[in-house]
Amino acid sequence: SESLKDIAARKGMRFGCAVGRRSEGGDSAYEQLLARECGMIVAENATKWPALQPQPGPHRFAAADQMVAWARERRLLVRGHTLLWQARRWLPDWVNQYDFGAAPARVAERLMTEHIKAVCTHFGRNIFSYDVVNEAVDPKTGELIGNVLNQKMGALEQIDLAFVLARQYAPNAQLVYNDYMGPGAGSEKHRAGVLALLAALRARGTPIDALGLQSHIGNTLPAAATAAGSDWRKFLDQVSDMGYDLLITEFDVNDRQLPADVAARDAGVAAIARDYLDLTLSYPRCRDFLLWGMADHVSWLQQWDDARRADGLPQRCTPYDSDLRPKPLRE
Ligand code: XIL
Repeated sequence: SESLKDIAARKGMRFGCAVGRRSEGGDSAYEQLLARECGMIVAENATKWPALQPQPGPHRFAAADQMVAWARERRLLVRGHTLLWQARRWLPDWVNQYDFGAAPARVAERLMTEHIKAVCTHFGRNIFSYDVVNEAVDPKTGELIGNVLNQKMGALEQIDLAFVLARQYAPNAQLVYNDYMGPGAGSEKHRAGVLALLAALRARGTPIDALGLQSHIGNTLPAAATAAGSDWRKFLDQVSDMGYDLLITEFDVNDRQLPADVAARDAGVAAIARDYLDLTLSYPRCRDFLLWGMADHVSWLQQWDDARRADGLPQRCTPYDSDLRPKPLRE
Protein backbone atom coordinates (compact mmCIF):
# COMPACT_ATOMS: atom_id res chain seq x y z
CA SER A 1 0.00 0.00 0.00
CA GLU A 2 1.01 3.63 -0.43
CA SER A 3 3.45 4.78 2.25
CA LEU A 4 2.29 7.22 4.90
CA LYS A 5 4.86 9.76 3.76
CA ASP A 6 3.47 9.61 0.21
CA ILE A 7 -0.10 9.95 1.43
CA ALA A 8 1.03 12.97 3.46
CA ALA A 9 2.94 14.44 0.50
CA ARG A 10 -0.18 14.30 -1.66
CA LYS A 11 -1.79 16.59 0.93
CA GLY A 12 1.20 18.91 1.06
CA MET A 13 2.27 17.43 4.38
CA ARG A 14 5.25 15.66 5.87
CA PHE A 15 5.06 12.49 7.93
CA GLY A 16 7.49 11.06 10.45
CA CYS A 17 8.01 9.11 13.64
CA ALA A 18 10.13 8.98 16.80
CA VAL A 19 12.95 6.45 16.83
CA GLY A 20 13.92 4.79 20.08
CA ARG A 21 16.54 2.12 20.67
CA ARG A 22 17.96 0.86 17.41
CA SER A 23 19.36 -2.49 16.44
CA GLU A 24 22.98 -3.08 15.43
CA GLY A 25 23.28 -1.98 11.81
CA GLY A 26 19.83 -0.36 11.93
CA ASP A 27 18.03 -2.80 9.68
CA SER A 28 15.48 -4.72 11.73
CA ALA A 29 12.03 -5.28 10.23
CA TYR A 30 10.75 -2.43 12.38
CA GLU A 31 13.46 -0.07 11.15
CA GLN A 32 12.72 -1.03 7.55
CA LEU A 33 9.08 -0.18 8.19
CA LEU A 34 10.10 3.21 9.64
CA ALA A 35 12.28 3.99 6.65
CA ARG A 36 9.49 3.01 4.26
CA GLU A 37 6.72 4.98 5.96
CA CYS A 38 8.58 8.12 7.08
CA GLY A 39 9.96 11.25 5.50
CA MET A 40 11.45 12.41 8.80
CA ILE A 41 12.39 11.11 12.23
CA VAL A 42 13.05 12.45 15.70
CA ALA A 43 15.07 10.75 18.42
CA GLU A 44 12.78 9.49 21.18
CA ASN A 45 15.49 10.09 23.81
CA ALA A 46 18.96 10.26 22.24
CA THR A 47 19.08 14.05 21.75
CA LYS A 48 17.74 15.03 25.17
CA TRP A 49 20.15 16.93 27.42
CA PRO A 50 20.63 14.15 30.02
CA ALA A 51 21.35 11.67 27.19
CA LEU A 52 23.87 13.94 25.45
CA GLN A 53 25.58 15.22 28.59
CA PRO A 54 25.00 12.87 31.53
CA GLN A 55 28.06 14.37 33.22
CA PRO A 56 29.57 17.85 32.98
CA GLY A 57 32.16 18.06 30.23
CA PRO A 58 31.98 17.32 26.53
CA HIS A 59 28.68 16.15 25.03
CA ARG A 60 28.57 12.50 23.95
CA PHE A 61 27.13 12.49 20.46
CA ALA A 62 27.92 8.92 19.36
CA ALA A 63 24.42 7.40 19.72
CA ALA A 64 22.66 10.43 18.26
CA ASP A 65 25.16 10.59 15.39
CA GLN A 66 24.44 6.96 14.48
CA MET A 67 20.76 7.78 14.27
CA VAL A 68 21.39 10.86 12.14
CA ALA A 69 23.64 8.83 9.83
CA TRP A 70 20.98 6.11 9.56
CA ALA A 71 18.43 8.79 8.63
CA ARG A 72 20.69 10.48 6.11
CA GLU A 73 21.45 7.21 4.33
CA ARG A 74 17.70 6.80 3.91
CA ARG A 75 17.15 10.46 3.03
CA LEU A 76 15.01 11.17 6.07
CA LEU A 77 14.89 14.61 7.63
CA VAL A 78 15.71 14.80 11.35
CA ARG A 79 14.03 16.87 14.07
CA GLY A 80 15.85 17.69 17.30
CA HIS A 81 14.07 16.93 20.58
CA THR A 82 14.63 18.77 22.89
CA LEU A 83 17.21 21.40 23.82
CA LEU A 84 15.54 22.12 27.15
CA TRP A 85 12.91 20.09 29.00
CA GLN A 86 11.80 22.29 31.85
CA ALA A 87 10.77 19.87 34.61
CA ARG A 88 13.44 19.15 37.20
CA ARG A 89 13.33 15.40 36.57
CA TRP A 90 14.22 15.87 32.90
CA LEU A 91 17.28 18.07 33.47
CA PRO A 92 20.65 16.36 33.95
CA ASP A 93 21.34 15.56 37.61
CA TRP A 94 24.56 17.53 37.52
CA VAL A 95 22.66 20.66 36.42
CA ASN A 96 20.16 20.24 39.25
CA GLN A 97 23.05 19.85 41.69
CA TYR A 98 25.20 22.62 40.23
CA ASP A 99 26.81 25.20 42.51
CA PHE A 100 25.53 28.45 41.03
CA GLY A 101 27.73 30.56 43.34
CA ALA A 102 27.48 34.31 43.77
CA ALA A 103 26.28 35.25 40.27
CA PRO A 104 23.60 32.58 39.70
CA ALA A 105 21.84 34.24 36.76
CA ARG A 106 25.09 34.49 34.85
CA VAL A 107 25.99 30.88 35.63
CA ALA A 108 22.56 29.66 34.48
CA GLU A 109 23.01 31.63 31.28
CA ARG A 110 26.45 30.13 30.76
CA LEU A 111 25.21 26.54 31.24
CA MET A 112 22.39 27.07 28.76
CA THR A 113 24.68 28.75 26.26
CA GLU A 114 27.29 26.00 26.42
CA HIS A 115 24.66 23.30 25.98
CA ILE A 116 22.66 24.87 23.14
CA LYS A 117 25.79 26.01 21.33
CA ALA A 118 27.36 22.54 21.57
CA VAL A 119 24.26 20.75 20.26
CA CYS A 120 23.30 23.17 17.49
CA THR A 121 26.82 23.58 16.12
CA HIS A 122 27.42 19.83 16.27
CA PHE A 123 24.35 18.87 14.23
CA GLY A 124 24.42 21.88 11.92
CA ARG A 125 22.08 21.48 8.99
CA ASN A 126 21.51 17.80 9.78
CA ILE A 127 18.70 18.89 12.11
CA PHE A 128 16.14 21.04 10.32
CA SER A 129 13.77 21.70 13.23
CA TYR A 130 14.21 21.84 17.02
CA ASP A 131 11.88 21.51 19.93
CA VAL A 132 13.82 24.26 21.70
CA VAL A 133 11.79 24.22 24.90
CA ASN A 134 9.58 21.32 26.02
CA GLU A 135 6.71 21.45 28.55
CA ALA A 136 7.28 24.80 30.24
CA VAL A 137 3.70 25.25 31.50
CA ASP A 138 2.26 23.60 34.61
CA PRO A 139 -0.97 21.96 33.39
CA LYS A 140 -2.67 22.39 36.76
CA THR A 141 -2.08 26.13 37.14
CA GLY A 142 -1.11 27.42 33.69
CA GLU A 143 1.95 29.03 35.30
CA LEU A 144 5.51 28.53 34.06
CA ILE A 145 7.25 25.59 35.74
CA GLY A 146 10.19 26.57 37.91
CA ASN A 147 13.56 24.86 37.70
CA VAL A 148 17.13 25.38 38.80
CA LEU A 149 17.88 27.54 35.72
CA ASN A 150 14.90 29.84 35.48
CA GLN A 151 14.72 30.43 39.22
CA LYS A 152 18.03 32.24 38.80
CA MET A 153 17.12 34.38 35.80
CA GLY A 154 13.33 34.57 35.49
CA ALA A 155 11.10 32.03 33.80
CA LEU A 156 10.19 34.00 30.68
CA GLU A 157 13.73 35.36 30.33
CA GLN A 158 15.11 31.82 30.39
CA ILE A 159 12.74 30.57 27.69
CA ASP A 160 13.46 33.63 25.58
CA LEU A 161 17.20 33.05 25.94
CA ALA A 162 16.87 29.42 24.84
CA PHE A 163 15.25 30.53 21.56
CA VAL A 164 17.72 33.36 21.03
CA LEU A 165 20.61 30.93 21.44
CA ALA A 166 18.99 28.35 19.17
CA ARG A 167 18.50 30.98 16.46
CA GLN A 168 22.11 32.11 16.87
CA TYR A 169 23.65 28.62 16.65
CA ALA A 170 21.10 26.96 14.32
CA PRO A 171 20.16 29.90 12.11
CA ASN A 172 18.43 27.76 9.49
CA ALA A 173 16.37 25.58 11.81
CA GLN A 174 12.69 25.87 12.54
CA LEU A 175 12.33 26.69 16.26
CA VAL A 176 9.43 25.12 18.13
CA TYR A 177 7.86 25.34 21.56
CA ASN A 178 6.48 21.84 22.32
CA ASP A 179 3.81 20.91 24.89
CA TYR A 180 1.02 18.39 25.56
CA MET A 181 -2.05 20.58 26.17
CA GLY A 182 -4.98 18.65 24.69
CA PRO A 183 -8.50 19.31 23.41
CA GLY A 184 -10.31 17.75 26.35
CA ALA A 185 -12.09 19.19 29.35
CA GLY A 186 -9.66 19.60 32.24
CA SER A 187 -7.00 21.09 29.95
CA GLU A 188 -8.38 24.65 30.07
CA LYS A 189 -5.64 25.94 32.37
CA HIS A 190 -2.95 24.23 30.35
CA ARG A 191 -4.17 25.68 27.05
CA ALA A 192 -4.57 29.15 28.61
CA GLY A 193 -1.06 28.97 30.03
CA VAL A 194 0.44 28.00 26.69
CA LEU A 195 -1.46 30.82 24.94
CA ALA A 196 -0.19 33.29 27.54
CA LEU A 197 3.37 32.07 27.05
CA LEU A 198 3.14 32.30 23.25
CA ALA A 199 1.69 35.82 23.49
CA ALA A 200 4.43 36.91 25.89
CA LEU A 201 7.13 35.55 23.60
CA ARG A 202 5.59 37.34 20.62
CA ALA A 203 5.52 40.59 22.61
CA ARG A 204 9.20 40.16 23.44
CA GLY A 205 10.18 39.43 19.85
CA THR A 206 11.50 35.97 20.75
CA PRO A 207 12.63 34.05 17.64
CA ILE A 208 10.09 31.22 17.74
CA ASP A 209 8.38 29.78 14.69
CA ALA A 210 5.87 27.20 15.76
CA LEU A 211 3.93 25.39 18.45
CA GLY A 212 4.43 21.64 18.69
CA LEU A 213 1.25 19.80 19.64
CA GLN A 214 2.51 16.60 21.26
CA SER A 215 -0.90 14.96 20.77
CA HIS A 216 -0.73 12.05 23.20
CA ILE A 217 -4.48 11.75 22.91
CA GLY A 218 -7.05 9.21 24.08
CA ASN A 219 -7.62 10.39 27.61
CA THR A 220 -11.14 11.31 26.56
CA LEU A 221 -13.56 9.12 24.61
CA PRO A 222 -14.64 10.19 21.09
CA ALA A 223 -17.88 11.86 22.15
CA ALA A 224 -16.06 13.93 24.73
CA ALA A 225 -13.35 14.89 22.27
CA THR A 226 -15.95 16.04 19.76
CA ALA A 227 -17.80 18.02 22.39
CA ALA A 228 -14.57 19.77 23.26
CA GLY A 229 -13.80 20.34 19.57
CA SER A 230 -14.83 23.96 19.67
CA ASP A 231 -12.43 24.70 22.55
CA TRP A 232 -9.65 23.08 20.57
CA ARG A 233 -10.61 25.05 17.49
CA LYS A 234 -10.53 28.26 19.50
CA PHE A 235 -7.10 27.36 20.82
CA LEU A 236 -5.70 26.56 17.36
CA ASP A 237 -7.28 29.73 15.95
CA GLN A 238 -5.59 31.87 18.57
CA VAL A 239 -2.21 30.23 18.04
CA SER A 240 -2.51 30.62 14.26
CA ASP A 241 -3.61 34.24 14.60
CA MET A 242 -0.44 34.99 16.55
CA GLY A 243 1.47 33.88 13.47
CA TYR A 244 2.73 30.52 14.71
CA ASP A 245 2.94 27.41 12.58
CA LEU A 246 1.71 24.15 14.09
CA LEU A 247 3.17 20.65 14.14
CA ILE A 248 1.83 17.40 15.53
CA THR A 249 5.01 16.16 17.14
CA GLU A 250 4.28 13.03 19.21
CA PHE A 251 0.96 11.47 18.20
CA ASP A 252 -0.37 8.30 19.80
CA VAL A 253 -3.71 7.14 21.23
CA ASN A 254 -3.88 5.92 24.82
CA ASP A 255 -6.55 3.18 24.76
CA ARG A 256 -6.98 2.61 28.50
CA GLN A 257 -10.63 3.70 28.43
CA LEU A 258 -11.55 1.42 25.53
CA PRO A 259 -12.95 -2.13 25.78
CA ALA A 260 -10.65 -5.17 25.97
CA ASP A 261 -11.96 -6.68 22.72
CA VAL A 262 -9.26 -6.08 20.13
CA ALA A 263 -11.51 -5.21 17.19
CA ALA A 264 -13.58 -2.78 19.28
CA ARG A 265 -10.43 -1.25 20.73
CA ASP A 266 -8.75 -0.75 17.36
CA ALA A 267 -11.93 0.81 15.97
CA GLY A 268 -12.14 3.10 19.01
CA VAL A 269 -8.52 4.20 18.64
CA ALA A 270 -9.09 4.96 14.96
CA ALA A 271 -12.26 6.94 15.75
CA ILE A 272 -10.56 9.05 18.42
CA ALA A 273 -7.67 9.71 16.06
CA ARG A 274 -9.96 10.68 13.18
CA ASP A 275 -11.86 13.14 15.37
CA TYR A 276 -8.70 14.83 16.48
CA LEU A 277 -6.82 14.76 13.18
CA ASP A 278 -9.72 15.91 11.02
CA LEU A 279 -9.92 19.09 13.06
CA THR A 280 -6.22 19.67 13.74
CA LEU A 281 -4.96 18.91 10.24
CA SER A 282 -7.63 21.16 8.75
CA TYR A 283 -5.39 24.05 9.83
CA PRO A 284 -3.27 25.12 6.87
CA ARG A 285 -0.46 25.98 9.29
CA CYS A 286 -0.32 22.34 10.49
CA ARG A 287 1.66 20.49 7.82
CA ASP A 288 3.93 18.18 9.87
CA PHE A 289 2.70 15.04 11.56
CA LEU A 290 4.92 12.75 13.65
CA LEU A 291 4.04 9.63 15.64
CA TRP A 292 5.67 8.73 18.95
CA GLY A 293 6.28 5.13 17.84
CA MET A 294 5.02 3.21 14.78
CA ALA A 295 4.22 -0.18 16.37
CA ASP A 296 2.65 -1.11 19.69
CA HIS A 297 5.57 -3.03 21.17
CA VAL A 298 7.98 -0.06 20.97
CA SER A 299 5.55 2.49 22.41
CA TRP A 300 6.46 4.31 25.62
CA LEU A 301 2.79 3.95 26.66
CA GLN A 302 3.42 0.26 27.48
CA GLN A 303 5.50 1.46 30.43
CA TRP A 304 3.84 4.74 31.27
CA ASP A 305 1.67 4.59 34.44
CA ASP A 306 -1.01 6.90 33.10
CA ALA A 307 -1.53 4.56 30.16
CA ARG A 308 -1.76 1.30 32.12
CA ARG A 309 -5.04 -0.53 31.59
CA ALA A 310 -7.05 -1.85 34.54
CA ASP A 311 -7.24 -5.27 32.81
CA GLY A 312 -3.46 -5.39 32.38
CA LEU A 313 -3.66 -5.82 28.59
CA PRO A 314 -0.97 -4.13 26.49
CA GLN A 315 -1.80 -0.83 24.81
CA ARG A 316 -2.82 -0.82 21.13
CA CYS A 317 -1.84 2.83 20.72
CA THR A 318 -0.06 2.99 17.32
CA PRO A 319 -0.89 2.16 13.65
CA TYR A 320 0.91 -1.23 13.64
CA ASP A 321 0.60 -4.11 16.09
CA SER A 322 3.58 -5.82 17.69
CA ASP A 323 3.89 -8.16 14.69
CA LEU A 324 3.98 -5.12 12.37
CA ARG A 325 0.51 -5.79 11.01
CA PRO A 326 -1.36 -2.59 10.09
CA LYS A 327 -4.44 -1.75 12.17
CA PRO A 328 -7.50 0.43 11.39
CA LEU A 329 -5.54 3.51 12.56
CA ARG A 330 -3.19 2.98 9.60
CA GLU A 331 -6.06 3.31 7.09
C1 XIL B 1 9.39 9.87 26.64
C2 XIL B 1 10.05 8.66 26.02
O1 XIL B 1 9.17 8.09 25.08
C3 XIL B 1 10.41 7.67 27.09
O2 XIL B 1 11.17 6.60 26.53
C4 XIL B 1 11.21 8.35 28.19
O3 XIL B 1 11.41 7.47 29.26
C5 XIL B 1 10.50 9.58 28.71
O4 XIL B 1 10.20 10.43 27.63
N1 XIL B 1 6.60 14.04 26.01
C6 XIL B 1 7.84 14.25 25.43
C7 XIL B 1 8.70 13.11 25.13
O5 XIL B 1 8.16 15.38 25.06
O6 XIL B 1 10.07 13.42 25.23
C8 XIL B 1 8.40 11.94 26.03
O7 XIL B 1 9.19 10.84 25.64
C9 XIL B 1 6.92 11.62 25.99
C10 XIL B 1 6.11 12.79 26.47
